[in-house]
Amino acid sequence: MAASKTTLDNILWQRSLQLRDRQEYWEESVEGRRMLESRRSLPAFKQRDSVLTAISQNQVIVISGETGCGKTTQIPQFILESEIAANRGAFCSIICTQPRRISAMSVSERVAYERGEQLGESVGYKVRLEGVRGRDTRLLFCTTGILLRRLLVDRNLRGVTHVVVDEIHERGMNEDFLLIILKDLISRRPELKLVLMSATLDAELFSSYFGGAGVIHIPGFTYPIRSHFLEDVLEMTGYRVTPFNQTDDYGQERMWKMNKHIPRKRKSQIASVVEDALTAADFKEFSPETQESLSCWNPDCIGFNLIEFLLCYICENESPGGILVFMTGWDDISSLKEKLQIHPIFGNPDRVMLLACHGSMASYEQRLIFEEPANGVRKIVLATNIAETSITINDVTFVIDCGKAKETSYDALNNTPCLLPSWISKVSAQQRRGRAGRVQPGQCYHLYPKCVYDAFSEYQLPEILRTPLQSLCLQIKILTLGSISEFLSRALQSPELLAVQKAIEYLKIIGALDENEHLTTLGRYLSKLPMEPKLGKMLILGAILGCLDPILTVAAGLSVRDPFLTPLDKKDLAEAAKSQFSRDHSDHLALVRAYEGWKKAEEESAVYDYCWKNFLSVQSMRAIDSLRKEFFSLLKDTGLIDGSPATCNSGRNDQNLTRAVICYGLYPGICSVVHNERSFSLKTMEDGQVLLYSNSVNARETKIPYPWLVFNEKIKVNSVFLRDSTAVSDSALILFGGSISKGDTGGHLKMLGGYLEFFMKPAVAEMYQTLKKELDELIQSK
Ligand code: CDP
Ligand code: MG
Repeated sequence: MAASKTTLDNILWQRSLQLRDRQEYWEESVEGRRMLESRRSLPAFKQRDSVLTAISQNQVIVISGETGCGKTTQIPQFILESEIAANRGAFCSIICTQPRRISAMSVSERVAYERGEQLGESVGYKVRLEGVRGRDTRLLFCTTGILLRRLLVDRNLRGVTHVVVDEIHERGMNEDFLLIILKDLISRRPELKLVLMSATLDAELFSSYFGGAGVIHIPGFTYPIRSHFLEDVLEMTGYRVTPFNQTDDYGQERMWKMNKHIPRKRKSQIASVVEDALTAADFKEFSPETQESLSCWNPDCIGFNLIEFLLCYICENESPGGILVFMTGWDDISSLKEKLQIHPIFGNPDRVMLLACHGSMASYEQRLIFEEPANGVRKIVLATNIAETSITINDVTFVIDCGKAKETSYDALNNTPCLLPSWISKVSAQQRRGRAGRVQPGQCYHLYPKCVYDAFSEYQLPEILRTPLQSLCLQIKILTLGSISEFLSRALQSPELLAVQKAIEYLKIIGALDENEHLTTLGRYLSKLPMEPKLGKMLILGAILGCLDPILTVAAGLSVRDPFLTPLDKKDLAEAAKSQFSRDHSDHLALVRAYEGWKKAEEESAVYDYCWKNFLSVQSMRAIDSLRKEFFSLLKDTGLIDGSPATCNSGRNDQNLTRAVICYGLYPGICSVVHNERSFSLKTMEDGQVLLYSNSVNARETKIPYPWLVFNEKIKVNSVFLRDSTAVSDSALILFGGSISKGDTGGHLKMLGGYLEFFMKPAVAEMYQTLKKELDELIQSK
């Protein structure tokens, strides 16, 4: 044993020497020296020695420094270089986590380049479904989710010498979760070094969490930046807008009126700009004059005209310099990019280098972001909040900030998708603004009024405090971290006990945890699907029962902004358009039909026409299309399916089957339908009488030939309202819902038996057994 250890040590020693020779050779080459020169100009480089000393003297250190100062590319590299220089190269293993896959990929490529290497030599990366690493890879950039997955099989991270957790200021659920685990781990592994990196000055919070860890701040520098808010931007359009001095229910000034002296002919030209501005700011109440002038309705250009106006304005009136536009999500970005590409200025590569920057772009596009444009060409980057702190675009002088963000990453192990746009925090707005002043004085245009900015919260609440905890609870179970509530009580900021209990209770109701809080088979599958458990449940059963194709659409539809638009002045037309898709007393199935039509229209390049006629949002439909692919690939990872969505559709389009699977996912969101003479009323167990939103297809009916409705969401205004709903039968509820049931089950079991013919794959047999056991128990209890 001892002999073999010595042999292994010898091999590693030899490799360490080779790594050192390789490093020294590069550092002495012309290219290497030039590279070192450019790295030296980064603020992080000036702290190289103090960072390395702090790491050697402390087990945990926290490093804070302004975006772009060189934390991500330099700090892990300093560790690697110093280990290699000390002949420990082959003995070290550094893992640096990133919240998003795109930063893991682009940063590893950059660091390899700075070391004069190809990716996969000493530097590599690993994200879901992709990765490059080799025998000598000693610095691995990966997503936080990948490290969590590794902890599943290797609780002590054997062989890892340094863990660097980047972007902790974002307070993502995964990062907060990882910190609890690492806090336990460092006491078991006293030689493991932990480095936490943050782009804001909140280092103390993290330091005290780790019992007073060392803190290093890297000072940065930004040039002055001029801020403009919506009112200034509207003035630039020539359209004067003044606020009413009136306060609404929220205590904010939200009413605006337009001055009447505007020449009529200008009105139509600029109406759409103003409309966009107002929609961008999410104003609920317009003055009558404003409403009157907002006649031109173009839902798929929300905010776009205003951005286009500003881009033109900057290109024509301002000095050279890159423009960074912060938009809500990649679907907005791709729609705007498409629109700008046919514009005489922005579509002309001799004048503008038009790029997108979001979580799912191709790596070739990633590289272009860092490239300098040719002389006389202006770089315009349309970005998500990824460009706030994780990716630094060097030559930006102008920032346009739409003020909203949504999370689009599904890469993380337990990331509950939160796809609805929400206002950013003051800190985020300042970060966005700061991007304009890296190379010279800059300007920032915020597309919301100053009073809305003043109402922003200071910081974004940590994700763990604002998102449902069900997914996280499943992760705690699968990683065998003990009692859920005890574990979460040790978080940096623990969620309320009530929220935790609610999540556990929900997981028990849907059958993911048993009475003793142990994972069931279903729970184990759900823990592999980084999405809300209800969506996961639907997809799993949809895959098993051969109706995955429609269920992919339903699950994707539940994750995006409602694609059915209901403009106030065309409410009837819009509702009529929606009802064409509904023959089944189901909003979810209406969406399935609308999507099928969209797909056909896409083949015929008639998407815009199709959406316009049917009052559908092009952006939402695109987002659904892409989420379907994402969900499908996640489902493939679980081993439940292979092939394509079409091959997982052996149940053909049996509406009742799809309905039952929707019921399986949405349970316990259920209400009973009570018919009276002329119409019907709805009741839930908790709320008594409930109502439907007027745009639900079921709201237009006088009769629903089913005893139940399942729904995704209820909202309490004055009464309780249900959003989208699907009518389901007793049998669907008995077999796929929970214990609220009536009638005989025997006949329906036969129906299920028919569907179970599709159980030809070993991976699904286990699921079937659980389902069958549950059914048997259910029948016993009848
Ligand atoms: O992590 P932090 O925000 O402190 O900075 P960084 O991401 O390490 O970036 C340091 C410098 O490297 C910036 O000037 C970036 O523009 C540059 N960089 C690059 O040129 N290419 C990359 N793929 C990543 C960073
Ligand atoms: Mg960084």
